[in-house]
Amino acid sequence: MTELKNDLLLRALLREPTERTPLWIMRQAGRYLPEYRETRAQAGDFMSLCRNAELACEVTMQPLRRYKLDAAILFSDILTVPDALGLGLYFVTGEGPKFERPVQSAAAIRKLAVPDVADSLGYVFEAVSTIRRELDGQVPLIGFAGSPWTVGTYMVEGGSSREFPTIKGLAREEPQALDAMLDIVVQTTTEYLNAQVEAGAQALMIFDTWGAALERDDYLRFSLGPMQRIVDNLTRESEGRRVPVILFTKGAGPLLADMVGTGCDALGVDWTTSLADARRYTNDEVALQGNLDPATLRESPEAIRQGVADTLASYGKGPGHVFNLGHGVTPDIDPDHVAALVDAVHELSPQYHD
Ligand code: CP3
Repeated sequence: MTELKNDLLLRALLREPTERTPLWIMRQAGRYLPEYRETRAQAGDFMSLCRNAELACEVTMQPLRRYKLDAAILFSDILTVPDALGLGLYFVTGEGPKFERPVQSAAAIRKLAVPDVADSLGYVFEAVSTIRRELDGQVPLIGFAGSPWTVGTYMVEGGSSREFPTIKGLAREEPQALDAMLDIVVQTTTEYLNAQVEAGAQALMIFDTWGAALERDDYLRFSLGPMQRIVDNLTRESEGRRVPVILFTKGAGPLLADMVGTGCDALGVDWTTSLADARRYTNDEVALQGNLDPATLRESPEAIRQGVADTLASYGKGPGHVFNLGHGVTPDIDPDHVAALVDAVHELSPQYHD
């Protein structure tokens, strides 16, 4: 393997000193970029783009050509896992993801089985190795998966949901059946992430977009517990380096204190918790990633620069900060505004490092 030319991300995730704060942007490859829209049109639809290693590699590289980012993230989706479980994923324009066969009863859960990951998700591992080859050591590659709870909400509700009525009903009435379903997702996701590392992923992130919709005890049982069981069985070293693990529960707030105990290396933080508070919750035991409100990107370049300055100041001095948004960049954002953010991090962050 070629030597990594920029390892700022990997060092910051391990709380090692860096000369400036590294950055990447959630959903950095996506519809806000005209070149992404063009490649997606060429692929036909979103899942065909994910299944084509050359095109998935192309859209992964697009934001790196425009911006001085410190990481690439695999272009794929968290819903590849339930698709591999046989639920039949498809996307309806304007409505987001849907499943042909949602899992809505204990009987449906009993029919689920852990798939052969190499077989059903091989296209993802091929994308990972294609991207690694193309990156040629420029920056590290982040692999990812969804948290079992977040993936479970889509599996049970059959698509995007605001209130999660069906899965919360299962949690109340058939909690053991829900545990069993989440366990299938845990086992599949563990194999899936380890295979991404084997194919060349150099850091891993677990996206838990909907964990904070649960009350605390249910969060611990249905969201954090399954993430913990994944973390316990991940490959933590590859190519002679540690493979850092980032957990991100959107809206976690004080739950960040519970998340530290999983043994992850870093936690994602959204904009509803300041990085100063997040540092207190986590006692500087893990690195923090975040947390500018993506809405800031709709403002002027000056306002974006101020937002970056405030975010850096909130974390303060010392290692262990990876700059990011608090959630993904949205399709309406002007690509020049993303450039303003990236430039501001490069210019303003060195003063926070010795
Ligand atoms: O960050 C990256 O650049 C990597 C790629 C990535 C995508 N989805 C690509 C994508 C990642 C990490 C995800 C994660 C994901 N997917 C999450 C967790 C993080 C989050 O955003 O909360 C969730 C909940 C999903 C499920 C999902 N996939 C939804 C709800 C949608 C529809 C959203 C929309 O804007 O229509 C998707 C589709 C999707 N995944 C797109 C992209 C770029 C948009 C597809 C398109 O229309 O081209």
